[in-house]
Amino acid sequence: MKRSSSSKPNPTVLFHLFVLLLIHRRTGSNAQPEINVVVILVLENRSFDHMLGWMKQSLNPSINGLTGTECNPRSAADISSICVSDDAGFIDSDPGHSFEDVIQQVFGSTSGSVPSMSGFVSQALTISSTLPATVMKCFSPENLPVFSSLVGEYAVFDRWFSSIPGPTQPNRLFVYSATSHGATRHDPVDLLLGYPQKTIFDSLHDEGLDFAIYFESLPTTLFYRNMRRLDFAPKFHWFPTFGKHAREGKLPSLSVIEPRYFDVVGAEADDDHPGHDVGNGQRLVKEVYEALRASPQWNRSLLILTYDEHGGFYDHVETPYVGVPNPDGLRGPPPFYFNFDRLGVRIPTIMVSPWIKKGTVVSRPNGPTTNSEYEHSSIPATLKKLLGLKSDFLTKRDAWAGTFEHILQELSSLRTDCPEILPDPLPTRSSEAKEDSFLSEFQAELVDLAAVLNGDSVFNLRKDTGKQMTVKEADAYVNFAMKNYMKAAREAIDRGN
Ligand SMILES: *[C@@H]1O[C@H](CO)[C@@H](O)[C@H](O)[C@H]1NC(C)=O
Ligand SMILES: *[C@@H]1O[C@H](CO)[C@@H](O)[C@H](O)[C@H]1NC(C)=O
Repeated sequence: MKRSSSSKPNPTVLFHLFVLLLIHRRTGSNAQPEINVVVILVLENRSFDHMLGWMKQSLNPSINGLTGTECNPRSAADISSICVSDDAGFIDSDPGHSFEDVIQQVFGSTSGSVPSMSGFVSQALTISSTLPATVMKCFSPENLPVFSSLVGEYAVFDRWFSSIPGPTQPNRLFVYSATSHGATRHDPVDLLLGYPQKTIFDSLHDEGLDFAIYFESLPTTLFYRNMRRLDFAPKFHWFPTFGKHAREGKLPSLSVIEPRYFDVVGAEADDDHPGHDVGNGQRLVKEVYEALRASPQWNRSLLILTYDEHGGFYDHVETPYVGVPNPDGLRGPPPFYFNFDRLGVRIPTIMVSPWIKKGTVVSRPNGPTTNSEYEHSSIPATLKKLLGLKSDFLTKRDAWAGTFEHILQELSSLRTDCPEILPDPLPTRSSEAKEDSFLSEFQAELVDLAAVLNGDSVFNLRKDTGKQMTVKEADAYVNFAMKNYMKAAREAIDRGN
């Protein structure tokens, strides 16, 4: 049909167009999920292949996991190798994962520029003769029943990296602030004074949105200076309150769950760190999932499960090293003066929502740049879009990181087939918690943080004997300090300062 430019539009056609537009807009808006309840749980120190690699064989061949032929040589001189296996169970030793250790793991030597992922065995050999087999051991999916179920039902990310090739704290800092403020290791002064950078919690607060931290021992989010603001203190809750808020439909826009980092008899750690029982981590994930699934807020929720870093365990995917932007111009300390231009090892990330298509596997992001990747900074970057935050990106890194809101936009209506109950995990160890052992570096830092919050000078030495605290003593102390901190904050707020 030809249309002359002088002919007037037909009113009937216009009316039909108008109706069509209305219908389109209505179905369009019905199909758009409004996600306004995000829950994040970051566990400790495990790589992607170690936890989820074998799910390629048993669950979904499109996952970039293990084929069974992945091996690492013992050393440049002795090229006999150790290969991946599927018999990971309880792991007592703690593989290397410091900045220096990770250089050797990814480059296969103490220097290099192109990651070969060939030095996990040789690095482990520098610690003990039995550790190499340990770092190549991966979990068989039936021993991680909760993750198997979630990977089958929802989304797994098979190309999500830790933000820096180094330890816990810097990586945890990236999750909520897209920088570690120049830290590549645990800087004692910054940990105590609190890291000064802006966080996603500040962005939410500035725009009138609420957040909450539900913790089991001491929350690591208190390592950010701003999180110690008096008016933020009421946002910290002991973990059982998560279940209560979920039941009552009172979860805020962003909830962070912090696991138990101390392993004591009767209150075992559930952070998945080596030496702790992964069965407990599976139980925590199950509990969080089931509480959210039963919540009146489930229809608008997204649960993000990830790990801070790979913990020294093998992974076969080369770590990205091209075009990764330094977040804020800060460099790491000597001798490396790390420029924050490489990512860390791949870690497991699973996402859950009734808006996610069953069996989704997410690999590379589509932008914003050609070499953007998924890493911890993808979390604040996506929250900005999902929750409609108007504030700027936190750093150059979250401006670059891939976002994942599209996984929530593929279905035209929400799923009604999501399981209400997940399988029961079994314990992976038969022994009791080693509550009389000394603290890991990370646990000692938590004790230092507790001392700062409580106005003490104990740090990780016992006041009376000057000896190092045991895990059991430290656990009791951080609980006591956190209770005092929350009580003091409540009283100060009541007094109106
Ligand atoms: C995880 O690894 C870091 C080193 O990267 C270590 O200091 C820390 O103790 C570990 N986490 C826990 C919870 O022990
Ligand atoms: C959640 O969505 C389901 C399916 O559309 C619906 O039956 C249910 O009533 C919704 N629940 C709430 C609390 O809105």
